[in-house]
Amino acid sequence: MADLSTEFLGIKSPNPFWLASAPPTDKAYNVDRAFEAGWGGVVWKTLGEAGPPVVNVNGPRYGAIWGPDRRLLGLNNIELITDRDLEVNLREIADVKKRWPDRAMIASIMVPCEEQAWKAILPRVEDTGADGIELNFGCPHGMSERGMGSAVGQVPEYIQMVAEWCKAHSRLPVIVKLTPNITDIRYPARAAKRGGADAVSLINTISSITSVNLDTFSPEPSIDGKGSHGGYCGPAVKPIALNMVAEIARDGETRGLPISGIGGITTWRDAAEFIALGCGTVQVCTAAMTYGFKIVEEMADGLSEWMDEKGYRTIDDFKGMAVPNVTDWQYLNLNYVTKAHIDQDLCIKCGRCHIACEDTSHQAITSMVDGVRHFEVIDEECVGCNLCVNVCPVEDCITMEQMVAGTDPRTNKPIDPGYANWTQHPNNPMAAKEAAE
Ligand SMILES: Cc1cc2nc3c(=O)[nH]c(=O)nc-3n(C[C@H](O)[C@H](O)[C@H](O)COP(=O)(O)O)c2cc1C
Ligand code: SF4
Ligand code: SF4
Repeated sequence: MADLSTEFLGIKSPNPFWLASAPPTDKAYNVDRAFEAGWGGVVWKTLGEAGPPVVNVNGPRYGAIWGPDRRLLGLNNIELITDRDLEVNLREIADVKKRWPDRAMIASIMVPCEEQAWKAILPRVEDTGADGIELNFGCPHGMSERGMGSAVGQVPEYIQMVAEWCKAHSRLPVIVKLTPNITDIRYPARAAKRGGADAVSLINTISSITSVNLDTFSPEPSIDGKGSHGGYCGPAVKPIALNMVAEIARDGETRGLPISGIGGITTWRDAAEFIALGCGTVQVCTAAMTYGFKIVEEMADGLSEWMDEKGYRTIDDFKGMAVPNVTDWQYLNLNYVTKAHIDQDLCIKCGRCHIACEDTSHQAITSMVDGVRHFEVIDEECVGCNLCVNVCPVEDCITMEQMVAGTDPRTNKPIDPGYANWTQHPNNPMAAKEAAE
C-alpha cells in the first residue's frame, strides 16, 4: 500500500493533507477533531500581535457562488485574522502539539511590518513547540488596509525584508504565504527566496465581490446596506492556483523551492494535481468548511488507491512529474492535429454541441442528416478546438482523436509526425527574420 507520509522542510506528517489557516484551525477544539479525523497537519488561524485582538463584523461574513445543483463553487469572506487572545492561542497550540506530536503544526503570523513586532512574537511562537511558521502576506481585506497581509505580499521588497527578519529571529522553518492579487507571482516568490524563506505556500484568497443585491444595491455579504471586497476561494480558484504554483515550480530562480499548494482542493485528484506540479504538501480550507473534517478520509484513501494503481510508492515518486510538461504557448507542437468524434451510442441528441460549434466555433457539427436529427462531426471543418467536448452533457460522448497519418481534410496538408512550433513557423515574422540572419 502507498506510503502517504511526507517530510516538508524536515517537518513530518502522516499524509500531505494540511488544513489551511482559517476557521477550521482557529481553536484546539477544532484542531483536535481534525487530527482525529486524519489530517496530517494544520496551519493555525493567523495570529496577530499581543494586545487587544482584531474585531470582526457581527453580521454575515461570507458570500458564495453555486452551480445549478447548489454545490458550492466559490466562497468569499470578509473575516479577519484570529479574533482570540494571543495568549489563549499560544497555549492551545502548545497543548495540541503535545497531544499530537506526529502531526505538523504550523503557526501563521501577521504582525505590523516592523522588525520589533516580528522579533516580539517569534520567540513566543517557538516556545509552543510549533514545527514552523507561515507568514500571512495574503489577506486581501481588512488587514491590508492596515499595512499588513496582501499590502506586504504585493511588494517584493517587503516580503524579502520580513522573511529576513524571521530567519534572523527564529530557528523555525519559514513558509511565506503568497497573495494571488498580483500580476506576476514569480516576483514575490523570488523575493521570498532571496529573503531566505524555506518555502512558499499559495494561494491565499482573491479580491472579490461575489454579488450585488438588486433590491438594496448592496454588495453581498451586506453589513447594514454596505459591502466591501472579500477574499475568494474554493473550487473556482483552483485553476488560478495551479497556474501560479506551476510558474514558481518552473521559474529558473525559484525552481526547487518547496511549495505547499492551496486553492480549491476538494478531492484527492485535486491534491494529486498540485503535487504533480511540485507541491510537497497541500492545504485545504473551503472543502473542510463545506463538508467537514471527515473529507480527509476520502482524500487520503483516493490518493492512496490511485498511487497503488499507478505503482507510486511514495509522494515523492510523482511529485513534480507535470512540471516539465508546462511550457509557453510558442513551444506547443503545431503539427499535432485532432478531430472531434461523437459516439453515436452515447449521444442523447440534445444538440448542444451543434449550437456551440455552429454559433461560436467552426460550423463542424451536423444537426440534420437526410431529414433526421443527427449529430456528426464534419472533419473538413473541424479545427479540433474541443469546445463541443466541454459543452456536451454526456461524459466521454465526444472525444478528441489524434490524426497520426494521412491528410488533414480541413487544410489538405499531410500529417507531419515531426514537431514544429511557432518559433519555427513561416508566418512568424521573428522566425523569418532569424532564419534570414
Ligand atoms: C473564512 C476564511 C478565513 C480565512 N482566514 C485566513 C487566515 O486567517 N490566514 C490565512 O493565511 N488565510 C486565511 N484564509 C485563506 C485560506 O487559508 C486559503 O488560503 C484559501 O481559503 C484558499 O484555499 P481553499 O480554496 O481551500 O479555501 C481564510 C479563508 C477563509 C474562507
Ligand atoms: S472540436 Fe471544435 S471545431 Fe471541431 S466539432 Fe468540436 S467545436 Fe466544432
Ligand atoms: S452535445 Fe453530446 S449528447 Fe448532445 S447532441 Fe452533441 S454529442 Fe450528442
